[in-house]
Amino acid sequence: MSSYLNISLSALLMASASIAFSAPGLAASKASIRQNADVDPRGQVLSLSCAGCHGTDGKSAGIIPSFYGKSPEYIESALRDFKAGERASTVMMRHAKGYTDDEIHLIAQYFGTVWGKNK
Ligand code: HEC
Repeated sequence: MSSYLNISLSALLMASASIAFSAPGLAASKASIRQNADVDPRGQVLSLSCAGCHGTDGKSAGIIPSFYGKSPEYIESALRDFKAGERASTVMMRHAKGYTDDEIHLIAQYFGTVWGKNK
């Protein structure tokens, strides 16, 4: 039973990864990465895991809050608060816990500056 659950979970993760990467945002994602070449590329790669919900630049889908146009400081502090459980969340605490503080910094630098490059 437990191995069945493990298989289902990895199938689900693979399915959600392919949805994220086949989304219409893919072209925009490539463009953002090119246009944001002066930001550490590790932040751009780490930020791809957020794109399924928040888009490639923080303009989020549906009911998910957008953070397009917010500063790197705002995004970093939000992620640290989610990670620490100091800010109420449904999914963000789980996501934020998966990153070191250095990685959160890199992600915040990427999302906090990419919108300025797309004007
Ligand atoms: C499964 C969808 C999902 C993914 C993936 C996801 N988020 Fe979120 N995000 C949410 C939701 C939903 C909220 C609202 C808080 C909550 O309920 O967890 C949110 C809130 C936020 C906020 C606060 C926005 C504000 O206005 O203050 C930030 C910043 C954020 N997410 C950044 C990220 C980053 C960076 C990643 C990737 C590391 C990420 N999110 C991945 C769904 C997601």
